[in-house]
Amino acid sequence: MTGFNEIMELAKRRGFFWQSFSLYGGLNGFYDYAPLGSLLKDNIISIWKRSYMEAGAVFIDTPVVTPESVLKASGHLDRFADIASECPSCHAKYKLESLVEKNGVHNPPSTVEGFKEILKDMEIKCTACGTRLTDAYEFNLMFRVTNNSETFNLYLRPETAQGIMVNFKLLSNFYRGKFPMAVAQVGKSFRNEISPRQGLIRMREFNQGEVEVFFDPEHEEWSHIPEGEKMTLVPNSGPEIQESILNAFKSGVIRNSGLAYFVDLTARMLARSGIDSKRLRFRQHRKNELAHYSSDCWDAEVLMDEEWIEVVGISDRGDYDLRRHQEFSGENVSVTVDGRTFIPRVVEPAAGFDRILTGVLFHAYYTRDNGNRVLGLPCDVAPYSACVLPLMKKDGISEKARELHVKLVGHNQSVTYDESGSIGRRYARQDEIGTPYCITVDYQTMEDDTVTVRERDSTKQIRMRIDDLLMHDNIFRNDGLKKFVQSSKS
Ligand code: GAP
Repeated sequence: MTGFNEIMELAKRRGFFWQSFSLYGGLNGFYDYAPLGSLLKDNIISIWKRSYMEAGAVFIDTPVVTPESVLKASGHLDRFADIASECPSCHAKYKLESLVEKNGVHNPPSTVEGFKEILKDMEIKCTACGTRLTDAYEFNLMFRVTNNSETFNLYLRPETAQGIMVNFKLLSNFYRGKFPMAVAQVGKSFRNEISPRQGLIRMREFNQGEVEVFFDPEHEEWSHIPEGEKMTLVPNSGPEIQESILNAFKSGVIRNSGLAYFVDLTARMLARSGIDSKRLRFRQHRKNELAHYSSDCWDAEVLMDEEWIEVVGISDRGDYDLRRHQEFSGENVSVTVDGRTFIPRVVEPAAGFDRILTGVLFHAYYTRDNGNRVLGLPCDVAPYSACVLPLMKKDGISEKARELHVKLVGHNQSVTYDESGSIGRRYARQDEIGTPYCITVDYQTMEDDTVTVRERDSTKQIRMRIDDLLMHDNIFRNDGLKKFVQSSKS
């Protein structure tokens, strides 16, 4: 089983991500995407965008700085808080939900008083210095921005969703009143997490992708729910089941067809990104776990280092946000369609790319019999699709290889170039960063314009014409070439 430390070590050493501002001792809860991680993140976001386009999503981009009035209306100012405790001796701060779960409480309370009782009854101690914790208090997770304006306060947004909610009226014009309408946004969100942890899993600045799907309340159904493969579902009442999404909806396990459709679409998006479906489950929130705006929620949870971690939440937000914005702004946000006037209801698949990326690294990582490490990333997720390698640096071979590299990049491919070290070491380096193909230019290339193409997982090699590699822009990005190499005789 791959551990967090192994992934963190690989991520730092090979340039996927590392802690921000480490030159100055590091800043807790903030991470930089390094050269390979930033390519990997872009590829995952691109798969996410294409997946939700299937549901007709359009994309917008709104500011991270948000006026207090918006967050008062959305409920974040008053209710977006975790319950915390501070050690009276060493002043270490704890998010109590996580701390009591670590102490074996499976259904943590949702009130300050409830947590105080547990601290008292279980005599829970500070893990840093052993002093007993007694106090519990609400801690709002938003970052306030210091600004020169005396008229209103500003905050960094805690979710990208509100940028879509406040634009609903303008967006409905763009959509020409057709429902359901899906609007998506990718961007940074900020939460002053009490105890950031496990690298990208709990950060203070993180990357979200959220889709707000607005439904006509009288037609709150998705037109088509695919039969789908069986998946692991954990309803809040009853045991875990293996069921197709269609059957789960028909039998009432998932009660809303919009939720059902987006659970299935999310499962497919995660599979395309490289999440192993055997290490994925959808768990329904318990009532006391639901966010203030949500009446039902299914989390996509991914198994990493023996822990189930939420990567996407698919929530029924109803008309909570739009009604509150209507009330607080004084503007009418209802729409009239076919003579009926209504405020739409919303289903929201909300993804965290940093957590998905961590899960993708976990599930891709394996070691060969010889101990070499490999990232078996899907072809359209890997930072580089291919690496061009000259066998020798002499006799015009590296010039020929450089020429091929430039041509492949010109064909819209993410291709790297490596001429340092033995060919075996170079293959191993590319395997460890997940590059699906190594293209070796050798003496034969100089004669007949063919190259060796080595496939990462099978390590099989075949000879191909350079012209064939240049024929299709996305030759390395789909599994066609992989299957072709694997089924060919070496
Ligand atoms: N608009 C709804 C919303 O924000 P959420 O479950 O709080 O829902 C959605 O967040 C996703 O954002 C989570 O499933 C997770 O992947 C990611 N996320 C939330 N907080 C995070 C944090 N502190 N660090 C990294 N990712 C986070």
